[in-house]
Amino acid sequence: MPRVLSCIQPTGSVHLGNHLGALVNWVSGQHDGDVFHGIVDLHALTITEQPGILGQSTVELAAMLFAVGLDPEVATVFVQSHIHEHTELAWIMECTVSFGELSRMTQFKDKSAKREGDFISAGLFTYPALQAADILLYDADEVPVGEDQRQHIEITRDIAIRFNHRFGETFVLPKAVHPKAGARVMDLQDPTSKMSKSAETENGIVYLLDENSVIEKKFKRAVTDSDGVVAYDRANKPGVSNLLDILSAATGTPAETLAETYSQYGPLKKDTGDAVIALVDPIRARYHELMNDKGELARLLKIGNQRAREVAAQTLDRAHRAIGLMPRI
Ligand code: TRP
Repeated sequence: MPRVLSCIQPTGSVHLGNHLGALVNWVSGQHDGDVFHGIVDLHALTITEQPGILGQSTVELAAMLFAVGLDPEVATVFVQSHIHEHTELAWIMECTVSFGELSRMTQFKDKSAKREGDFISAGLFTYPALQAADILLYDADEVPVGEDQRQHIEITRDIAIRFNHRFGETFVLPKAVHPKAGARVMDLQDPTSKMSKSAETENGIVYLLDENSVIEKKFKRAVTDSDGVVAYDRANKPGVSNLLDILSAATGTPAETLAETYSQYGPLKKDTGDAVIALVDPIRARYHELMNDKGELARLLKIGNQRAREVAAQTLDRAHRAIGLMPRI
């Protein structure tokens, strides 16, 4: 079974785009590989400043990952900052990557340009070294990532190759894989843009923790078009097609088949809202159950943290020995 590593930053609440686009695949894929899911809070620290926020978001995200169906006995769910090996190996990664390589990372160039005149942490610059540590610590064969993360996987491979060349075979070379395409959920108010927390208004974003009445309202107000014909046509009818895609993802019926059963937008919006409510209802119930039972949530997380720690400790030790650092006394 391949070792698969996915990581997610604890920033913002989980929305329907995250869920149908990625999390449902995490859940269905948990038996297909030896999967590790890291909640990478230290990466979020590169731009998060308010005290306490990250810890709270980490707890909430962990509860959500279990609520959507990750089974701690099967998938290893862990918190990055709880496994000290991440930051320790990150330093070694920083000494294995060059200033020039880090300077060429497009994500750093974009993010630092956006923050011009603002505080730009050195962590934002060395971010790929920490990410390389996340990946190499777990001997990951596969890292499912979107296009925006490809360069980070490339630099991780380059670092691993350089390290192995300098110090001898130590790290497994990971490869980026395209995750099985989940549903591409678009913003309900701007159906040509992906549903994303960076949208201007919240009205087009359906959060898994929204109340039923809020979900109903968001679907009722979803932007469609004025020709009044229900048809699945992403290019010319993005709003209607998005509703059909969401309804399809929630019910398992193909979007084209669904299109034939509707003649008006109103009932399509209503049924899509209802289907989403039916989908998120048990998730919300489980989420709140775990948030109200922190002992149980901690128990579930400890299972993953412990497994992650065992693997990470061995890899860091291997790296120390390869470099020839003085053996620990
Ligand atoms: N940089 C990734 C993102 O922004 C998050 C991440 C951190 C990650 N460490 C990782 C992804 C390791 C995959 C593997 O989405």
